[in-house]
Amino acid sequence: MKTRSAGGTMTLPRTYYTSALIYAQEQERIFGERWLCIGRSDALSKPGAYTLHDLLDESIIVLRDHDGILRAFYNVCRHRGTQICTAATGQLSHTLQCPYHAWTYALDGALVGAPQMAGVPGFDKVDYGLHPVAVAEWEGFLFVNLAADPQPFTDAYAALLDKFPAWRLPELQVVERIVYEVAANWKLIFQNYNECYHCPTLHPVLNQLTPYTGAWNDLEEGPILGGPMVLSAESMTMSGRVCATPFADLSDEERGLVFYYTIFPTLFLSLHPDYVLVHRCEPLAPNATRIICEWLFHPDAVAKPGFDPSDAVEFWNMTNKQDWHICELSQRGVQSRAYTPGPYSDLESVLAAFDREYLRALAV
Ligand code: FES
Ligand code: FE
Repeated sequence: MKTRSAGGTMTLPRTYYTSALIYAQEQERIFGERWLCIGRSDALSKPGAYTLHDLLDESIIVLRDHDGILRAFYNVCRHRGTQICTAATGQLSHTLQCPYHAWTYALDGALVGAPQMAGVPGFDKVDYGLHPVAVAEWEGFLFVNLAADPQPFTDAYAALLDKFPAWRLPELQVVERIVYEVAANWKLIFQNYNECYHCPTLHPVLNQLTPYTGAWNDLEEGPILGGPMVLSAESMTMSGRVCATPFADLSDEERGLVFYYTIFPTLFLSLHPDYVLVHRCEPLAPNATRIICEWLFHPDAVAKPGFDPSDAVEFWNMTNKQDWHICELSQRGVQSRAYTPGPYSDLESVLAAFDREYLRALAV
């Protein structure tokens, strides 16, 4: 097992967890520039299907066109700005029509109909297509990027590509979803996920299944951080047993591990022998974060008689609540005038790496 070192680094100053100005800078420089996971793509399997996503005070339409291409647009009509789609999901024929004056757009965003506009001097439909947003699909996960000139997804997340073939991520289905709102800054949630120094005190049940010192990191710098942890049980469940047939392609070594990764700045992936846990973070305010937690299983396991994911759902819902509670206490503490940065332990080396990545992104 590799040794880890936090290199004598300290936690971030108070202002990073409290300042409205820094929060606004994060919105612009991090969430407005990086690839953001917005969920799974299963709702978009059919041509013409669309989903709406609220992020960064924006409404984004993601759709699959009739050539099978995924596209994303700001939900903003090019006439007078009205939001075009209102239902969270839907099926389009071949066009999107604004409900105000019926300007009509093809699924590639081109304006194809604008009643009574033909005689308007200088007006040309070609100039008024929907504003596009970059979109990428990775292993069944959807990502968008609001930057005008985004870094290609495959460059940004090169370390992620083809990393988890045995879990057959594109095939997995969401079996359970729980949404939490936590009164803590989004970085405290990341930092909490990235260490198990707290596990003996906070998670006695989890610590029995994966003793806290049995972890190492294979990604220690950059936007993707984390690594495996040795299981002393079959899986992370209340009973310690698998609650579904383990993924068939896992090696014997992989069957004895659980893998934890953070994908900056929104996603946590936890790969178990029998299921995959996904957390998505959405900052709501300097001191508030929404977390969408989903449990994914292979359809073959779900189809088996007696399939019951509750052993895994109960375990992680309990563990999540323990973590959110301590993150809220942490937020309360770092807001204090008495708080000053404290030293990271070597078990928190990934937090120091997260802080470096965060500060690099914020400085852009
Ligand atoms: Fe959309 Fe007028 S605002 S057609
Ligand atoms: Fe925890």
